[in-house]
Order: sequence, then structure tokens, then C-alpha cells
Amino acid sequence: MDENKFFREATLRICGSIEIEKALFDCLDYLKNFIPAESVYLHFIDLREKTGVVYAMADGGGGRQLNIRFDYPAPVWRLIGDGSDLPEEVLLDRADKSTLGKHMLKIAGLSGIRSLMMMRLSLDSKEVGVIAFEARGESRFSREHLHRLRLLQSPFAVAISNSRRYIELLELKNLLADDNKYLQQELLSQKSDEIIGADFGLKHVMQQVNKVAPLSSPVLLMGETGVGKEVIANAIHKYSSRRNEPFIKVNCGAISETLIDSELFGHVRGAFTGAFENKRGRFERAHRGSIFLDEIGELPKAAQLRLLRVLQEMEFEPVGSAKTIKVDARVIAATNRNLEDMAAEGLFRKDLYFRLKVFPIYIPPLRERACDIPALTQYFMHKKYREMGFAEYPSLAPGAVKRLEAYEWPGNVRELENAVERAMIVSGGKTLHFDDSGFEKPRSVWEEAPRDAEGSPVMLDDVISSHIIKMLHRTKGKINGEDGAARAMGVNPATLRNKMRKLGVPFGRGVQYK
Ligand SMILES: Nc1ncnc2c1ncn2[C@@H]1O[C@H](COP(=O)(O)OP(=O)(O)O)[C@@H](O)[C@H]1O
Ligand SMILES: [Mg+2]
Repeated sequence: MDENKFFREATLRICGSIEIEKALFDCLDYLKNFIPAESVYLHFIDLREKTGVVYAMADGGGGRQLNIRFDYPAPVWRLIGDGSDLPEEVLLDRADKSTLGKHMLKIAGLSGIRSLMMMRLSLDSKEVGVIAFEARGESRFSREHLHRLRLLQSPFAVAISNSRRYIELLELKNLLADDNKYLQQELLSQKSDEIIGADFGLKHVMQQVNKVAPLSSPVLLMGETGVGKEVIANAIHKYSSRRNEPFIKVNCGAISETLIDSELFGHVRGAFTGAFENKRGRFERAHRGSIFLDEIGELPKAAQLRLLRVLQEMEFEPVGSAKTIKVDARVIAATNRNLEDMAAEGLFRKDLYFRLKVFPIYIPPLRERACDIPALTQYFMHKKYREMGFAEYPSLAPGAVKRLEAYEWPGNVRELENAVERAMIVSGGKTLHFDDSGFEKPRSVWEEAPRDAEGSPVMLDDVISSHIIKMLHRTKGKINGEDGAARAMGVNPATLRNKMRKLGVPFGRGVQYK
């Protein structure tokens, strides 16, 4: 046998492809002429973690990339020790009779009488893996075969090290693509960070924000839906020293219970069906920055426990991984539910509630800060004017702002924003009246405005129709005249009828309002 030719030909095949499984297959195909191997396995021993990984294998049928992690049983581990006792090469005539060999066969899923030949691979005195050749039957490999394999130690080591770097690069690329996608989404949902009412209705809130923002303690934002909790969470991040680091948002109510752990803490490839790649969780992304846990009251109990641990120890394990990740993320939580009640009813972990409410900030509803309504209205008119591309800036009809100020705003700032948008569409971007009868009523009437099961306000139209029905009950179904519903609501009877037709409120003969 010409050793130089053997080395050259085998090396060409070993280094012929960056995909290690293909290289292994090509190489095995050639080596079969010199070594009676049936299959070849590449694996790596992690001495620190005391685990092993099979990367790739090849047999007559082809090559495969694998990622099988395994623990060494104690007897095998005793053989391996700290690695220094492990021989450079192992030749086993009956692998199925040796402790180490039996383990190797088991990992490879092989049985019966087998011969095994293994060699450690190192590059720059760094261990890069172990290559193992296997064949059916007893004493298939000789000293001469081992010598031939030894000739190829360096090419194998170079190939496996390159391939591992290549796989790491691919994983990094995936991570970056993942990050990129995430950032794009965040960019799309970026809103202006102006806070209207900071010196008026939200003055007290802003004082608290200024106090707590520079610290790293968790903040709990409480308030009805649409009051601006997210706006305030943004402000806390912006006013902190973390402002140039990520602000990561999680809507705990919008992610299914099965995915919430993976969303928050990430997962490793193969952790569950559909986990094709490693994925970083939101906590990891929020490292050095802030994480905004919106609707924290919706967080499932299992995730609550994990969150508690992050708050206490600032560490967690991704789903399917044993590796602990340390993070430094400031937690800002928000809820429109009463966490104290939920904790008392056992719906929310008490320990987590106490941990979160270190610094609670309550954001009052819009109806309690009517002084902000004029500025907010103008702000949203500007915003919509730009977004909707109207030719001219709209004006407000006399009395329009008064009507808005008198309204109860069950949906708070978000509802006001929607109302402005609606009025601009209705008026074609000219003069805004806000003369839907809903805005014309004194506040007190709205105390019983219908809400859904969670106490959230329902659609504006529903609010309006239920109010009309209530007024009709009061006037016993009468619409016209001094004591009619139209007069009571300050609108023209024809307008009211139109409205009722539109909203599907029944009227006329045969309909009884008593
Ligand atoms: N003080 C404010 N200044 C400007 N816009 C606000 C203010 N408060 C709320 N908004 C706007 O109102 C909408 C609802 O606010 P958001 O923070 O999402 O409320 P929440 O999280 O409490 O439900 C958003 O479009 C937000 O930009
Ligand atoms: Mg919100």
C-alpha cells in the first residue's frame, strides 16, 4: 500500500465537503478498500458537562448529520475520568463485551457481535472529537488498520473542527435572522413616545415614573384598558440608563399556554414537536434592557413560577435545555386586573404578586382626567391627519370638545383615539362634530354603560344602542314631542330614528317599552 497516495486520496474526500456527513460518506466509501469498516461515527465528549454528542454518521446507505446528546453511564464515566486516562486509540475485538464498547454500540443503535476501532481527534492540542469505525463480527480490525487510521488523524481533526464552526455559523445566522425578524416587527409597531398630559392629568404618574425609572427594581403598572400603560412602560425604559438596550414586549394574554414558556425562556432544537431550531426567549433578548410583561394577570401558573425564579435569581433554563442562562433584565409588568383579588382567590401566585408590586403605579382612567382630553384630541387629530393623508387639517366644531369631556370613556385613551379617527372618516377630514348621541349625554347616565365579563368596555355602538333603549324605557317608547326620547337626548327625532335603524334598535307600533 502506498501510504502517501492513501493519505492524499483519503484527505481529498475527508475535506471535500463542509457538510461533515457527506465527507464521512465519501471517505468511508474510499476507506473500505483499506479498512473493513461498515459504518463510521463522529462524536464529542464534553468533559466539563459530562455528556457526549453524536454529530454525524455514515454507512453504506449514506451520511447523516445527527445531534444526539447522551449521558455516560457511571462505569463508562469512570473509564473516561478527567479525560487524561482515556487512550488515544481503542481497538475492541468484541465491542459488545466491553463496558465502553457496549455503550458506544447502544448510542449507535447497533447490536450483535461487533468490532470497534476508535481514535481521539485533537487540533492544536484541543480535543475536537472521537471517530469510531465499526464492523459486524469479531476481531475485524487489526493493528495495521489502526495504523492507517492514525495517518488520517489530522485531516479528520481539521474537517470536524471546520464543520463544527460551520454549524455554529449557521446557528448564529439563524439567530440573527430571528432577531432581525423580531426587530422588524417591533419597528412596525413603534409608536411615537410623546406623553400627552405629563404635566396635567398624568403629573402624579410622571413623578413616580421619574423616581423609579433610574433604578432596576420591577414596576407594576395598573389601570383600565387603554389608559396608556404601554406608553408609561416605554417611558420608564427611556428614562432609565438602559435606554440604548432592548425594550422587549410580551403580551402574556396573547400567547398560548403551551408556547408561553418557550416564548419567555426560549427553547433548544428538538425540545418539542416543531422546535426545529434553537430559539432565544424574550428574557434573553431583553438582556441589559427591559422586558415589558403586558397583561401579566393572564400568565399561566406554571409560567408564573418560572417568572418568580427569574425575578429572584435572574436565571432560567430554556425549554429542553439543562444549561442555565443568567440575565439582567428590568421587569415592567402591566395589568388591568386586580392582582390582589386574584392572589386571594388563588388565581395568581401570591409570592409573585409581592415580588412585582415593589413599586406599583396606578394610571387613572381618562374620565378622571378630563383636563387631558383637549390636548389628546388635538394630538390624535394630528396623528390621523398625517396617517390618513387628508389634504387639510380638520377643525373642531363648536362644543365638540365639551361633548368629549362630558363623555364617560369606558375605553379610555384608546377609545378617544378611535373616536377621533371615526369622526375624521365621517366628516371626510373637515369639521369634527362628535355628535353621535353617545357624546352628548351628561356623564352620570353612563355609569351603567355595558361591559363584558372582564369588565372591559364593549363597542361604542353597543354603548349607544343600549343607552337609546334605556331612554326609550324612560319615555315608554315615545320618540317625538316634549317628553320624547329625541328631545331628552338633544337630537332631532328623524336623526334618532335613523340611528336606531342603523343600530337595529326596534321601534314603532308593536314594540313595547314600558
Ligand atoms: N398620555 C398619552 N399620550 C399619548 N398617547 C397616549 C397616551 N395614553 C395612551 N395613548 C395612546 O392610546 C393608545 C392606548 O394606550 P396603551 O398604552 O396601549 O394602553 P394600555 O396598555 O393601558 O391598554 C395607544 O395608541 C397610545 O399610544
Ligand atoms: Mg395595553
